[in-house]
Amino acid sequence: MSGQRPVWFSHRFLSAMGAPGPRTLWTLCVCFTALRTNALRVTMRESAVEVVRGDFVILPCSFFTSSPLSRLNIIWTLAPFSSPESPIQVIVYDHGQIIEDPSLIGRVGFTGIPWSADIMVNDTRVSDAGIYRCMVNNPPETADPGIGELLLTVLVAPSLPACQWDGNMDAGGSVTLSCSVAEGVPTPEMRWDKLNPEEISLPINMEGELSGSVQIVNVSSQTSGLYRCSTSNVLGTENCYVNLSVYSAVAGSSSGILQGVLLTLSMSLMLLALLVLVTWLHRTGQDGPWRVSKEEEEEEEGYNVIRYTPSLMKRSFV
Ligand SMILES: *[C@@H]1O[C@H](CO)[C@@H](O)[C@H](O)[C@H]1NC(C)=O
Ligand SMILES: *[C@@H]1O[C@H](CO)[C@@H](O)[C@H](O)[C@H]1NC(C)=O
Ligand SMILES: *[C@@H]1O[C@H](CO)[C@@H](O)[C@H](O)[C@H]1NC(C)=O
Repeated sequence: MSGQRPVWFSHRFLSAMGAPGPRTLWTLCVCFTALRTNALRVTMRESAVEVVRGDFVILPCSFFTSSPLSRLNIIWTLAPFSSPESPIQVIVYDHGQIIEDPSLIGRVGFTGIPWSADIMVNDTRVSDAGIYRCMVNNPPETADPGIGELLLTVLVAPSLPACQWDGNMDAGGSVTLSCSVAEGVPTPEMRWDKLNPEEISLPINMEGELSGSVQIVNVSSQTSGLYRCSTSNVLGTENCYVNLSVYSAVAGSSSGILQGVLLTLSMSLMLLALLVLVTWLHRTGQDGPWRVSKEEEEEEEGYNVIRYTPSLMKRSFV
């Protein structure tokens, strides 16, 4: 029987055939149902499969039929995530003939035809991701259902992100750090960190899924340092860096100018004060004879002017 009919019998069918008396009621019921419907059934052993890009993957599809396989027909289709509205026929098995889609020639094949409809895809690409349907027909059996569906995800490690900065690095200015990553499945998580003096995480604005930026306003010397953008998913992490140096030299020179101005101003003031003092001293020297020369005072004017108080004058000024 099995030699003549190389068929994947349904489990129910086999148990119905092999089961002796006692379990009969249930078995007969099942058998009756199976015979009555007499339908081919497709079973997907998995509903979702993941593969790392470049690796091979087996897409499982089992079918159960009770008819000969001479008219077996299997069609695998793919509705790619990139263009779901234009599905392709991945591979077809028809009357012993196998036809592959041009985009998959040499990469796709059945692994157990005609016993199973499993296929293998080698050297997987991102474009292979999508919804696969396995359709099996084995006339004259009807199919119930003859279609199975599975979702293939092709995982991709994040690519090396690109870091950039833009803005005014003078103290008080504002700077935007931006980071973008070309690919990664699942979509990489992005984060920005300032690494020194101590590591701190920065709030990030995402622009779409693959790029994000950080705004730094009113930059100061504390803004200087090394910044890192990290992109990571289950397959890994990639980083890029920006080294910011706030031009405190500009701030220093402006305060230097200020200092210079202040210095010049104060020096002028001092000079002015000195000038005033000198002028005043000069004047008082001309007007007040008592301070210019005590010798002269004593010798010349001591006679008539300061006759009564020479010793007093002397005492008070010596
Ligand atoms: C996939 O690669 C394996 C090993 O490299 C090879 O045996 C198999 O035939 C390939 N399958 C297809 C469909 O090309
Ligand atoms: C900018 O930073 C300086 C010093 O860090 C601070 O004194 C000033 O208030 C800040 N200005 C604004 C607009 O935040
Ligand atoms: C960042 O730049 C500063 C000044 O230009 C330099 O001293 C420092 O070594 C740089 N750091 C890195 C990690 O490149």
